[in-house]
Amino acid sequence: MGEFAISGLNLGEAHAAAARTLRQAGGETPELDARLLLCHAAGLSHEDYVAGLHGALEPDAAARLGVFIERRLAGEPVSRILGVREFYGRSFRIDAGTLDPRPDTETLIEAALAMIGREGLRERPLNLLDLGTGSGCILITLLAELPTARGVGIDISLPALALARSNAQSLGVGASFVAGDWLDAIEGVFDLVVANPPYLSLADMAGLATEVSAHDPRGALDGGPDGLLAYRRIAPQIRKVLRPGGTALFEIGSGQAQAVLRLLAEAGLAVEAGKWLWRDLAGRPRVVGARA
Ligand SMILES: C[S@@+](CC[C@H](N)C(=O)[O-])C[C@H]1O[C@@H](n2cnc3c(N)ncnc32)[C@H](O)[C@@H]1O
Repeated sequence: MGEFAISGLNLGEAHAAAARTLRQAGGETPELDARLLLCHAAGLSHEDYVAGLHGALEPDAAARLGVFIERRLAGEPVSRILGVREFYGRSFRIDAGTLDPRPDTETLIEAALAMIGREGLRERPLNLLDLGTGSGCILITLLAELPTARGVGIDISLPALALARSNAQSLGVGASFVAGDWLDAIEGVFDLVVANPPYLSLADMAGLATEVSAHDPRGALDGGPDGLLAYRRIAPQIRKVLRPGGTALFEIGSGQAQAVLRLLAEAGLAVEAGKWLWRDLAGRPRVVGARA
């Protein structure tokens, strides 16, 4: 038996016990984590949980909760245990083959929608390309927000593509997902190219927390010695897939803004310093862009 075992408790008591265990282990959000894991174990929505706080926790649900708490105590992120991550207000399934989408990546969505809105393109039949689509969170979100747009997601990982297809179907979004090594096999012309490529340097990879290194696929994180490998591959090929006047937006890692903007400028794209940089909620440069 592991450290956490409960039986004979109602939902409210089970929540308190789970939260206490997670808090004692140093968890940053023990109440929230406990509620999410309890609801998942008992198959309850948040509303069912609030309405049924005094109801009994069935033995099989208690056993599942015990296993989930043990996994959390061993450092597995809650989203991995749930197999679901909320991104820009929608639920995306995640699995071992995909990066767990990060809130920072919502900056890329905000940048794209702001640019499209500002230029009066919201109702246009825009053609979007998402490089390194992973769970599909970026492309599917943009297509859900822009009902007249269509789009293609590329990834080198077949398991990621399978999951992206399933997420698109669950969310009722029509999108194509294609296997490829960045832009090598891409044909067609796009209005907007978006990418959140792997951008961690060798030093970043060496310093990763176990929560990340043990659960996110290495191929979704590793950007080569200085973290810029994927941008160096992608930048020189962008113009062949962007229509004249089309835009490319890239998520970037810490301290990479100037280097990536330089790669885009060297590839013949128009870069306006200041205008083509967006910050995340912590105020760090998170997205850069350029225009064909
Ligand atoms: C940082 S993850 C981004 C996943 C998703 N777009 C997101 O924002 O959560 C990078 C993705 O790029 C994919 N990738 C890595 N190398 C690639 C390559 N050479 N060609 C295409 N995709 C690649 C990985 O499989 C992974 O899904």
